[in-house]
Amino acid sequence: MEDILQVDIVTIFPRMLEGFLGESMLRRAARSGRVAFRLVDLRDFTHDRHRTTDDRPYGGGPGMVMKPEPFFEAVDSLRTPGARVILMSPQGRRFTQSIARELAAERHLILLCGHYEGVDERVRIGLANDEISIGDYVLTNGALAAAVVADAVVRLRPGVLGNAEGTAEESFSESLLEYPQYTRPPEYRGLRVPEVLLSGNHEDIRRWRRMQALARTAERRPDLLGASPTAAGQPERTES
Ligand SMILES: C[S@@+](CC[C@H](N)C(=O)[O-])C[C@H]1O[C@@H](n2cnc3c(N)ncnc32)[C@H](O)[C@@H]1O
Repeated sequence: MEDILQVDIVTIFPRMLEGFLGESMLRRAARSGRVAFRLVDLRDFTHDRHRTTDDRPYGGGPGMVMKPEPFFEAVDSLRTPGARVILMSPQGRRFTQSIARELAAERHLILLCGHYEGVDERVRIGLANDEISIGDYVLTNGALAAAVVADAVVRLRPGVLGNAEGTAEESFSESLLEYPQYTRPPEYRGLRVPEVLLSGNHEDIRRWRRMQALARTAERRPDLLGASPTAAGQPERTES
């Protein structure tokens, strides 16, 4: 049997993610025992009547900063040997499909979500062993960012997607965007499915898809082609 991936999301808004984790693929993944999710309420690791998780910033300035103690106590209670503790932050390394693959090989992810002005720096220095941003924009809190990471990672775990929904040829799998997809009907509102896809000739279809993927990537994301070992000008890999 495959190992289970444990994903813990530590946030002051666990309810924001209940619906998200309870639907579609993530729900299926959890039900099949391939992944286990824990939504951890950071306030459970406070010790005052108001369950306070934030305080004023030292040195002054606007807003509030999240206190270190609840994060440290939460992680102390969750951590297993080798767990990857990831601080969600717009200042982290930018999330990509290759980071998703890296995280999908782990056994235990603990995703820490900030709020307000951010998180006391000691959480980053003394607790997190990774820091991830989902893009160059600022969200109000880290719960959505953690959800994005969890979704992209979980679908890469063995057995989570059915055979029909493989990840081998999708966008970014080879530093290429995916080729265009069509389904029935063969013509709709004057727009026809390319003849080659109706031909039944698998070799022609494979070649057409390859060319479309390269052309689309060159047009939309030339930066990806620079990083592709199979970029234009290099021999195509022969598939067996
Ligand atoms: C309002 S943001 C804090 C931004 C912080 N003052 C700064 O300028 O870097 C509050 C929290 O939302 C989360 N967050 C916001 N944008 C994010 C992003 N692009 N990627 C990951 N997490 C993000 C982080 O957990 C962050 O601590």
